[in-house]
Amino acid sequence: MHERQLTRIDSVRKQLDEMLKQCEDKETSRNGYVHLYGVGQACALIALHRGHDRKYAELAEIAGMLHDYSTYKDGTRENHAEKSSIEAERILRSIPQFTPEEISIVCQAISKHSDKEQVHTEFDEILKDADDMQHWLRNPVEEYFFQKERAQKVAREFGLMREQGKW
Ligand SMILES: [Fe+2]
Repeated sequence: MHERQLTRIDSVRKQLDEMLKQCEDKETSRNGYVHLYGVGQACALIALHRGHDRKYAELAEIAGMLHDYSTYKDGTRENHAEKSSIEAERILRSIPQFTPEEISIVCQAISKHSDKEQVHTEFDEILKDADDMQHWLRNPVEEYFFQKERAQKVAREFGLMREQGKW
């Protein structure tokens, strides 16, 4: 029987929740909890599905949790990828268990996540795919998100809706 562990994700979660609790608009913080943790879980799922180990999935999950941090902190989308990567660097540096290399992998993915048209590293791509996957799965019937190229790609990759033959 394994005991519950307090891990690095819990340290990140603590700081993320601190910020989300401070949002004046409760709807904004609700959206933040749903989207950031949703993308985090989608990142872990995609990373594991693509054959990576659990430690890699942990880093991917953290990238997802922090990827839009500044959007919820300032209520603006302007330069949010770059700004969120700076916030992520500050947060991860404050947690002694992260190596500089891990911090740079996570922060690079966050800073590039808005470039959905381009293909970057394998790790960067997990975050971009997870972002579109979460938007789609939040409401499976909404065409707007389902029709996005990355949502279609992920649906195919996971073998979803095979029997309906519609992607
Ligand atoms: Fe996002």
